[in-house]
Amino acid sequence: MSVATARLAAPVAVPAPGPRTIAVAAGDGIGPEIMDAVLAVLASADPGLGFQPVTVGLEAYRNGALSGFGPEVMDAIAEHGVILKGPITTPQGGGYKSVNVSLRKSLGLYANLRPCVAYHPFIATRHPAMDVVIVRENEEDTYAGIEHRQSEEVYQCLKLITRPGCERIVRYAFEYARSHGRRKVTCMTKDNIMKLTDGLFHKVFDEIAAEYPEIANEHMIIDIGTAKMAVDPERFDVVVAPNLYGDILSDVAAEVAGSIGIAPSSNIGRDCAMFEAVHGSAPDIAGRDIANPSGLLLSAVMMLVHLGRNEAATRIHNAWLRTVEDGLLTADMAPADGRAPVGTRAFSQAVIDRLGQLPRTLAAVDYPPAEAAPAPTLTATPVLRTISRKVLVGVDVFVNWDEANRNPDVLGERLQGQAAPHWRLSLVTNRGVKVFPKGFKQTLCTDHWRCRFLASADGRATPIAIAELLLRLDAAGLDAVKTENLYTFDGVPGYSQAQGE
Ligand code: NAI
Repeated sequence: MSVATARLAAPVAVPAPGPRTIAVAAGDGIGPEIMDAVLAVLASADPGLGFQPVTVGLEAYRNGALSGFGPEVMDAIAEHGVILKGPITTPQGGGYKSVNVSLRKSLGLYANLRPCVAYHPFIATRHPAMDVVIVRENEEDTYAGIEHRQSEEVYQCLKLITRPGCERIVRYAFEYARSHGRRKVTCMTKDNIMKLTDGLFHKVFDEIAAEYPEIANEHMIIDIGTAKMAVDPERFDVVVAPNLYGDILSDVAAEVAGSIGIAPSSNIGRDCAMFEAVHGSAPDIAGRDIANPSGLLLSAVMMLVHLGRNEAATRIHNAWLRTVEDGLLTADMAPADGRAPVGTRAFSQAVIDRLGQLPRTLAAVDYPPAEAAPAPTLTATPVLRTISRKVLVGVDVFVNWDEANRNPDVLGERLQGQAAPHWRLSLVTNRGVKVFPKGFKQTLCTDHWRCRFLASADGRATPIAIAELLLRLDAAGLDAVKTENLYTFDGVPGYSQAQGE
């Protein structure tokens, strides 16, 4: 039996094997032990590779670097062009911001490539033929991390989707598909609900897909798309998605392929790249020599291809396949024959022992010479386009109000009294649902109201008119916590309708 093994090629191959140094950050939790294991394999397979250790994560915080990495880390990455990074612990619900997200954004690493490949029958999976590459947008979406508390009860997170960001990632996905002989790109969004933000991603996908007639394309709503990924992953080839969906989807896909512990990833930017496993710092198993170093090792394979060190990449990848075939598996890969799992160090030694060997059942990998390696062309600078006519037509004022049993009619009438001369109150919503005029008494109302004012028949929508409105609301004892200007772009509203409008 010969099972196709997907090449994990990272794109943007640059020439030049020979001596080369990379920045290396061990990270937190299982990071140091899996990094040691991976560097041992790299040192054996590619003696020309040097490592410059840098400190990222908890230790950096303890040393006073509030972002989780000091300027020397950025200098090292700028100098060497790549960093191999272990997982970093990020506190949930509070504390410092994610180092991973900060690094990806500071370095402009806009494409997160996550191949999820089954290694049947050696690593247990229900989907032997699975071979999916998820291309996750890496800089935008809710990961901008712009959050505010606006009232006693209401918190918000801004979801930012930009046209240049969409164009870059979607084009990247198609270029990747073209250069790696992949036949289909699936886009996943939730544009039936988020018609402007996800709608833009989908629209750009349709525009760019038309430039690649040889590659099939389709769009799926993210919820059913994720469900299909869980039960029928063989139907997917390349999947492109906004940041949050791509993050969730790739963990699902990695587990379906066999284990989160084997999934690699590359974060690609115009000037530099970061390679890391998909999994996190796994504090529950840290320091026990049982973590699987495969995700990080296969990320290192992607890095070697990125650096044009394809021979070493081929040797390591084949040795890894052979190790897996030989049943030397860490616990998470669930040895099928009841054989005892091996530990982290033993696994990496097994890979080292097999350098130069080929797998016997799984298809061997052969990364072509660097100069022959297909590399997607990337448009780093967004194309300048015609500027549309942007007209201010109204303003949404968000009011924190908690009086009169939260009766929307009471609030609506007070707001109406402040609207003239330039505005008329169009509607009031609560959590996006219209509650005035003519709301439903069943609608749950919090203390946070979106009040939409549109220019009145003889009024003028101007920034000064907005400021005057805010002053009147303040004088009337209404607490305006935020405003959003309402524009049309070439006559098309640049704002969503209310639910129930
Ligand atoms: P996790 O991926 O660290 O762990 C989830 C489960 O998978 C755990 O049961 C863990 O033991 C297991 N696991 C993960 N990697 C494994 C490996 N190599 N070998 C064997 N088993 C493995 O996710 P979790 O627990 O949600 O996050 C832990 C921390 O990692 C958090 O602070 C989180 O923010 C951070 N994290 C960091 C990432 C990064 O640095 N790129 C990515 C994801 C999470």
